[in-house]
Amino acid sequence: MKRLRTAVLISGRGSNLQALIRACSDPQFPAEIALVISNMAGAGGLDLARTANIATRTISHKDFASRETFDAAIDAALTEAHIEFVCLAGFMRILSDWFARRWEGRIVNIHPSLLPAFKGLNVHQQALDAGVRVAGCTVHYVVPELDSGPIIAQATVPVLSGDTADTLAARILTEEHKLYPLALKMIAEGKVELRNGAAVFG
Ligand code: GRF
Repeated sequence: MKRLRTAVLISGRGSNLQALIRACSDPQFPAEIALVISNMAGAGGLDLARTANIATRTISHKDFASRETFDAAIDAALTEAHIEFVCLAGFMRILSDWFARRWEGRIVNIHPSLLPAFKGLNVHQQALDAGVRVAGCTVHYVVPELDSGPIIAQATVPVLSGDTADTLAARILTEEHKLYPLALKMIAEGKVELRNGAAVFG
């Protein structure tokens, strides 16, 4: 079976990366993780990747004068490793329009809210402040505008009385770890694709 050659871009602890690594450890899973790139040298996710014998690269944004040159270095690393598909998993850099267009339809992100509600940062507090009774997470195609691409999959959790941003985040994270592998499977099996700016399900 030809497996979708995937890279995961991270900045931190990498629990979603770990969920993807676990899914891809099944030889029957239609995607493989061939490269993990972090912009932070100390990211915990790098250790998770190394433990799983996955190639890693640290490309620090601080070594580049502009967003575009940083993104060009990421793009070169992906191309060099013959990467076909990219998963952003807690990657805390905003990508340039150039990069988003170049990888259009071949790059997705996981975001811990039910998009289009609550974009950007502090999304769990945003959800609590808004008083929503249901929260969740979204896997979506990456487009130049932040947290705005066509939605591939979502999962919901209840908001419970007494929730803090931390307790809500933990409940959502458990769902993220199920949703991201599921979405990658759908993509790798060709059950969803980006066509004319929309997610099309087959
Ligand atoms: C997750 O909540 C993800 O949705 C968001 O950043 C967090 C990353 O966590 N984009 P982890 O590094 O995968 O543990």
